[in-house]
Amino acid sequence: MASLTIRKLDEGVKTYLRLRSAKNRRSVEEEVRVILGELIEGREEPLTPFAVPSSAPIAQRSGALPEAGVTLIIGGGIAAYKSLDLIRRLKERRIEVRCVLTKAAQQFVTPLAVSALSHERVYSDLFDPQSEFDAGHIRLARECDLIVVAPATADLMAKMANGHADDLASAILLATNRKVLLAPAMNPLMWNNAATRRNVAQLQRDGMVLIGPNSGEMAEAGEAGVGRMSEAIEIATAAERLLRPPVPRPLAGKRVLITAGPTHEPIDPVRYIANRSSGKQGFAIAAAAQAAGAEVILVSGPVDLSDPPGVTVKHVESARQMLEQVQAALPADIAIFAAAVADWRVANEGVQKLKKTSAGMPPLQLVENPDILATISKLTDQRPPLVIGFAAETEHLIDNAKSKLARKGCDWIVANDVSPATGVMGGDRNTVHLISRKDNEIEVDSWPAMTKEQVAIELVAHVARSVTDKSLNDKAPEPAS
Ligand code: CTP
Repeated sequence: MASLTIRKLDEGVKTYLRLRSAKNRRSVEEEVRVILGELIEGREEPLTPFAVPSSAPIAQRSGALPEAGVTLIIGGGIAAYKSLDLIRRLKERRIEVRCVLTKAAQQFVTPLAVSALSHERVYSDLFDPQSEFDAGHIRLARECDLIVVAPATADLMAKMANGHADDLASAILLATNRKVLLAPAMNPLMWNNAATRRNVAQLQRDGMVLIGPNSGEMAEAGEAGVGRMSEAIEIATAAERLLRPPVPRPLAGKRVLITAGPTHEPIDPVRYIANRSSGKQGFAIAAAAQAAGAEVILVSGPVDLSDPPGVTVKHVESARQMLEQVQAALPADIAIFAAAVADWRVANEGVQKLKKTSAGMPPLQLVENPDILATISKLTDQRPPLVIGFAAETEHLIDNAKSKLARKGCDWIVANDVSPATGVMGGDRNTVHLISRKDNEIEVDSWPAMTKEQVAIELVAHVARSVTDKSLNDKAPEPAS
């Protein structure tokens, strides 16, 4: 066999072959020949001379990689030494750092030191045949989640403000579509110079984010003022804030009590009455409330779901145990009753397993279970300020839900059609209607079909808005008489 054609090569393999052949100054075909020869002779080279590139930001790549990636451009200034500490500070925050050194930066820090700290090769030359044969500056500009320029010198900022691209650093900055964080460092007179002021204003208009400069002593003896580069820890914190913006936590400081799942009502030690509830909706609400910053207590009947992280879960079997745990969890700011509680339990529960006898079926006497939602809604001292019930209906959905709202004394009802045709019981989607009282009127807000997670997020958003509105109203000043 003299020739071999391989189709459908993986993109990563293709890139690896292109990089490796460029490095060894061979054609791709020659390189494949060498690899196969080495394999057969058992002299296989390690397969990763470079990281296999991908066009996706680092944060979106597979789990083995760190969560986020930064391209750090080190400009030529005395503050460049602080960038060595910055690499360390970023890496301790699980941020991968790939460094680019300008020509001037190499007068202050060596590529060897930078590469030893970043554990990556260092890039400095726009015309480097190893990385530029496939436009390496484009990869450096886009295969990251953020570009940090530290120190951002007056010269580098002037180039950026005017769109120059005559070296690797400026070409990356012109080619990027990622956020850019600049940590300026220069003499106070340079910082205050009208040209620098213009350039800084332009860069801010272009969407660049600046950290510093701080004020303090300069490297130049006897000079002080604004121009010192921010400390590495300040730059790393600013970078992390851009990479992982703080998630809003509208329910921080609130305690939310949730019931979920079915209840099992024993007939005897081995049999019970149950229903088809999976608990998915209640668990999704618990997870959404926890993500919104609330302290969440979830009282759950028997379900086949894992406990949501960060949520206190009390596992129960019967309606009476559920009521007990709910009462023990009070006080709460918000209570959401999503459980499908069995309405009845067996009064004459068998102590031993009921046996078949010639007398026929054992007579099961049913008694009504306590209504947990109604009990909590009607409390006088420990009633949570917002009590939400669910209405699982198979007919006359809105009318039945409205009368449940009145009968149970809760503030809102989430009504859903649980007829078998809807697949809601045990399924992943839900179509709900939020029924609430507003100024003595009953409002019905119908939501489109959504996943149970989306319903949960939407419900928690409504709760958060109502809690915020309420605290605003509570703080509102008395109208002037
Ligand atoms: N609920 C409760 N305790 C019960 C029964 C129901 O806390 N013993 C709560 C449910 O968690 C839900 C609401 O009451 O929030 C309505 O439940 P649903 O099963 O729809 O109604 P029921 O009250 O059981 O009335 P019906 O079966 O007649 O529709």
